[in-house]
Amino acid sequence: MSKKQEIVMSGIRPTGFLHLGNYFGAIRNYVKMQEDYDCYFMVADLHSLTTHPDTKQLKDNVHRVLAENIACGLDPDKVALYCQSHVFETAELYLYLNMLAYTGELEKTVTFKDKVRQNPDNINAGLLTYPVLMAADILLHRAKYVPVGKDQEQHLEIARTYVNRFNHRYGEVFPEPFAFNYNQQLVKVPSLDGAGKMSKSENQMATLFLADEDDVIRKKVMKTKTDAGPQELNSQKPEYIENVFSLMKLVSGDDVISKFENDYNNCSIRYGDMKKQLAEDMVQFIAPIRGKINEILNDKKYLAEVMEKGAAKAGISAKATMQLVREAMGLNY
Ligand code: TYM
Repeated sequence: MSKKQEIVMSGIRPTGFLHLGNYFGAIRNYVKMQEDYDCYFMVADLHSLTTHPDTKQLKDNVHRVLAENIACGLDPDKVALYCQSHVFETAELYLYLNMLAYTGELEKTVTFKDKVRQNPDNINAGLLTYPVLMAADILLHRAKYVPVGKDQEQHLEIARTYVNRFNHRYGEVFPEPFAFNYNQQLVKVPSLDGAGKMSKSENQMATLFLADEDDVIRKKVMKTKTDAGPQELNSQKPEYIENVFSLMKLVSGDDVISKFENDYNNCSIRYGDMKKQLAEDMVQFIAPIRGKINEILNDKKYLAEVMEKGAAKAGISAKATMQLVREAMGLNY
C-alpha cells in the first residue's frame, strides 16, 4: 500500500487557546503527515462537553482551534479538517463500542482519575467513556496512525483493545491504531514552572500559547524556574533545568543549544542569558503564527467553508466504515 493510502486521524478539544504542547505534540506532525498520508483532523467539540458543559463560548473556541491549525500550516485542501459533531456517524460507532467497553477498565484510566480530581462535582458518564468516544473518532476512518502527545498514549492502548474485541467478536473490520511521532518517542512539552506539562486550562502563566503577545512570551520565559547554577563539572541537570533545555531544543538553533550545554558542563552558565535567548527564539517562533491566526479568525465565511468541506470528506469515509460495521455486527436487515 502506498503511504498516501494509509490513514491518519487526530483531534484537539476546543477548551482554550492552543499552546506549544499542542504544537510540538500534535500539530507539527499533522503538517508533515498531510504530505504523505490520507489525513483526518478534527476539532473534538463533543469531547469538550465532558468537562465544559457551558456552550456559550463553544462556537468561538471551535473557530479558534480551526484557525490555529491552519495558521500552523495545515492545508484544508490536503486533509479533511472538520468538526467532530458534524459527522453524526461518530455517535453511532461510540454507542456500539460502549458495549465492548468494561467500566472497570475505564475507571482505571489515568485521565479519568485526573478529571475526577479536578471536577468532583461533575463526574458524568461521558467523562468515564471519554476513551470510547476517542476510539470511535479513530476507528470511524479505520486509521492506523494517530499523531498525539505522550498524555494520549493510554487512550490509544484502549482503542486497540476495542479493535481486538470487535474484530474477534464480529470479524475483521478495523486495523490497530498507534500513537505516532516522526521522532519516534512521543512528546511531552513541560510547563514553565517545572511542574507537569503545558495545558490549555491549568496554570496559564506556565504555558506558552500560540496567541501570546511578544511581551507576554518574554515575561513568562523570564519567570522560568532556575537556580544558582551547577557547582560541579558535568553534573546531572535537575528536572526543571532539563525542562529549560527541552524548551530550547524546540525552538533554538543547534549552535545555541550546544553553547549553553557547554556552559552548563563547565559551570559557567548564566541562566539569565539563557532565558533571554530562549525568550527571543520563542518570540521568533510564535509571532508569525499569531499573526496568521488573527487573519484567519477574521474570515468567518472561509472557516464555515472549511468545516463544510471537511465534514463532507470525513462523512464519505465514516459512511463506508459504518456500512462495514453494521454488516459485520448483523445489523443489516
Ligand atoms: P487535547 O485537546 O488535550 O490535546 C491536543 C493534542 O495536543 C497534545 N498535547 C501535548 N503534547 C505534548 N506536550 C503537552 N504538554 C501537550 N498537551 C497537549 C495532546 O497529546 C493531543 O495530541 N483526547 C484528545 C482529543 C481527541 C483525539 C481524538 C486525539 C479526541 N478524539 C482522536 C486523537 C484522536 C485530547 O484531549 O487532546
